[in-house]
Amino acid sequence: MPPQRELMLNAEQATHCARVHEHLTALIAASRGWLSFERFMDAALYAPGLGYYSAGARKLGAGGDFTTAPEVSALFGACVAGQCAEVLHALEGGSILEIGAGSGRLAVDILSRLETLGCLPDRYCILEISADLRERQRRLVAERLPGLYGRVKWLEEPPEEAFDGVILANEVLDALPVRRFRWHREGVVELGVTIEDGRFAWEPRPASEALADACARLRQAGGGWDDGYVSEYCPRLEVWTQSVTRSLGAGAVLWFDYGLPRSQYYLPERHEGTLMCHFRHRAHGDPFLNPGLQDITAWVDYTLLAEASREAGFILGGFTTQSYFLAGLKLDEQMRALAGDDAHLSARLANQARQLMLPGEMGESFKAMVWLRGLDLPLSGFALQDLRHTL
Ligand SMILES: C[S@@+](CC[C@H](N)C(=O)[O-])C[C@H]1O[C@@H](n2cnc3c(N)ncnc32)[C@H](O)[C@@H]1O
Repeated sequence: MPPQRELMLNAEQATHCARVHEHLTALIAASRGWLSFERFMDAALYAPGLGYYSAGARKLGAGGDFTTAPEVSALFGACVAGQCAEVLHALEGGSILEIGAGSGRLAVDILSRLETLGCLPDRYCILEISADLRERQRRLVAERLPGLYGRVKWLEEPPEEAFDGVILANEVLDALPVRRFRWHREGVVELGVTIEDGRFAWEPRPASEALADACARLRQAGGGWDDGYVSEYCPRLEVWTQSVTRSLGAGAVLWFDYGLPRSQYYLPERHEGTLMCHFRHRAHGDPFLNPGLQDITAWVDYTLLAEASREAGFILGGFTTQSYFLAGLKLDEQMRALAGDDAHLSARLANQARQLMLPGEMGESFKAMVWLRGLDLPLSGFALQDLRHTL
């Protein structure tokens, strides 16, 4: 059953939804009745004051719409901190730039652990597109780490100045707007959004040459598709990842997200793509429901990320699943360090560890990837499993 019927909106949510609907309808009208899904997703997530990430919905955690590894457990941040420490140690210092910091939990967990390790970065910068989330992050850091607040700096644009250290992002690439397409023997169509009887509806149009060329590459990698195969493609991933990593001098870029190498992403059996929406912890596939109130995501094509990063001059340092990344950073030791003698906390952390590690939970579909520049260093998070050959 669609979430709108099952989960009633309160008056404030219904009003907000109606405003976002109106905004999207105006965008569709302004582009003569057909809007690419990429632009629709962009506006539904990021239109100032209206989009899911730009407005005040709670979004992450128990009272929100979805949960992420840092929201599940401080263990994730403790392990990522361990990985950052190895890089900062090798560089004899440096800064950290986190992109898309959500509630700020990961920043707090990383900084706490690095403080304990005596390995604090010179600066911890957060590049965050959402003004609402920037405020939440500020409040959380001020409340939980008042002594380190001065070290944290919020950015609205990628840094201009070069720095050495670590760039990291958890579950940000999946929030980049994508194009949707349908493959037919006689040609590729792009699925855009139109209005039918006052509702959003899919409408196909012949794909541009650039999209048709991209689809030909994706189809070849996936091993052939049947007529009517639907999937998505993220044309802005290349330029965006290059722009946010440009300022890194020497150091590492760590990406965490659910995704696959291209040959597995575009398998014939995945014929409806990977588009997924989240509303109050229910996942479903309809991006037209509750605009402005639900998250819209697509899996990451890690081969595309690899192409973009290589072109920007980075060297691939490792690619592995989240569970092997965490195991390589000794999740069990982090658990003992966090729990100390507290048996209850230890039991809670053990449950959270299962959620982060088990293949049916976040352990396998989520991947970790690291890119290096000016640094030749084996990293513990990537020592136990090497999936680079799959890209
Ligand atoms: C799914 S949430 C993940 C939050 C957090 N990293 C976590 O793991 O809990 C996506 C985050 O990326 C941010 N974001 C999305 N697109 C962005 C962009 N282009 N630049 C910076 N932040 C962005 C969102 O506002 C949000 O904070």
